Amino acid sequence: MNQEISRRRTFAIISHPDAGKTTLTEKFLLFGGQIQVAGAVKNNKIRKTATSDWMEIEKQRGISVSTSVMEFDYNGYKINILDTPGHQDFAEDTYRTLTAVDSAIIVVDGAKGVETQTRKLMEVCRMRNTPVIIFINKMDREGRDPFDLLDELEEELSISVRPLSWPINIGAKFKGVYNIYENKLDLFKPDKQRVTEKVEIDVNSNELESHIGEQDARQLRDDIELIDGVYPEFDVESYRAAKVAPVFFGSALNNFGVQELLNCFVEIAPSPKPTKAEERDIDPEEPRFTGFIFKITANIDPNHRSCIAYCKVCSGKFERNHPYLHVRLGKTVRFSSPTQFMAQRKSTIDEAYPGDIVGLPDNGIFKIGDTLTDGEQLHFRGLPSFSPEMFKYIENDDPMKSKQLEKGISQLMDEGVAQLFVNQFNGRKIIGTVGQLQFEVIQYRLENEYNAKCRWEPVHLYKACWIESDDEAEFESFKKRKFQYMAKDREGRDVFLADSGYVLSMAQQDFKHIRFHFTSEF
Ligand code: G4P
Repeated sequence: MNQEISRRRTFAIISHPDAGKTTLTEKFLLFGGQIQVAGAVKNNKIRKTATSDWMEIEKQRGISVSTSVMEFDYNGYKINILDTPGHQDFAEDTYRTLTAVDSAIIVVDGAKGVETQTRKLMEVCRMRNTPVIIFINKMDREGRDPFDLLDELEEELSISVRPLSWPINIGAKFKGVYNIYENKLDLFKPDKQRVTEKVEIDVNSNELESHIGEQDARQLRDDIELIDGVYPEFDVESYRAAKVAPVFFGSALNNFGVQELLNCFVEIAPSPKPTKAEERDIDPEEPRFTGFIFKITANIDPNHRSCIAYCKVCSGKFERNHPYLHVRLGKTVRFSSPTQFMAQRKSTIDEAYPGDIVGLPDNGIFKIGDTLTDGEQLHFRGLPSFSPEMFKYIENDDPMKSKQLEKGISQLMDEGVAQLFVNQFNGRKIIGTVGQLQFEVIQYRLENEYNAKCRWEPVHLYKACWIESDDEAEFESFKKRKFQYMAKDREGRDVFLADSGYVLSMAQQDFKHIRFHFTSEF
């Protein structure tokens, strides 16, 4: 059991859209023998075949809406990559996936540097103390000075960095990467872009000149000296404690610097860590099974309308057909066909270990955040929902189908597609999302999966925030004053719908004892 746990690496590759996440994932799968599309396959081809395109809507739009899992063995390690949606309107999905990983690789576009989504994702990693490795991609393009990029990463992402590889020139003159971690020179031949020639020489060897020329050799030595002078020596423990982010440079498209990243990653990345439950911390080595649901996807197979709930195994061994406790429902459940995920297929499994993701057929019994145990009353703490930024009233557009609509909305909210608030003043339902696309997904899925029709109506809101107070009188007077803007979330908690930033800050000023929360867990 301990051996199984220590060889597992469960992580997500995350990035601002277009930085190269899909391309890098594809290259990892290639090394894992999961796909045979050797060479530089255009990354959108994999989008058509990979597991992340299960949902019809994804196929239509060519974007990845749902999160899927890819598993493979590499050098004796069991790798579980949790894929995340490529489109930033589905950022919430990505945040939730980050609750199930033990580490993350952040891909940054070398020409663009840190972008909005990179910043947000790093924030989520920081909230959970998730160790991150940064891969600076597209070094084959004219980009920014690597030292400037490192400074920007430190400044914008508020984390110390430590380069473990270093580019020899960039753009058209990009010759390769010096692997600081292994003291190896990896050469890149622009005429044969798919080939990585590996030469094992130290930066101080006289042979360096014969490989990269005098000027670049000098520059490289200067750079390495500077790195060693400026950045403290790499220390695995500081990385695992999420205090330092190792940085790699390369080009995912050209498969360059990728294997170096993967080799170092499997060595230094943490195996499954203890998981926090409300009651106690759960060690992966504990003999009894525990796990939680972090993701639900619908319609994986359009012929059988069913959902799959993704369960992260936190401790013990998960076994097929074994009775487990569904803590929220207080019910015993068994799974006769749990699945694991490969790049392009899924197969039934008999057992799974901590760090693994098990796909459980779900006919509506699961909600995001549900805990499964071998009998113990435990509640894993998930990632809070973030206060949404876009709002619309949802209205029934087919009076004959109101039941279907209710059921559809309820299940989609259980899946975490968006957040539902009920305005206490007029009883109308408001859907809050982080992006426009989610409204389209909801409408499409209500029609296709629930045979229900909805219509959106505008509502002008700036932010929804959860409020609480120990001063009951003040709380009541606030709710009275703002009665038109008060709503309840699905758990029945009080939510204030501020229609402008000004109104919100005035409310914060006037009602000193009320706490305004911008995430749902406080
Ligand atoms: P994402 O999942 O993070 O959104 O990014 P994705 O991998 O889809 O990559 C975005 C674009 O960047 C793709 O180009 C991809 O080919 C390109 N790209 C990825 N890695 C590198 C690299 O190392 N160097 C260079 N020069 N480009 C890279 P596209 O034009 O959007 O798609 P395609 O037509 O090339 O497939």
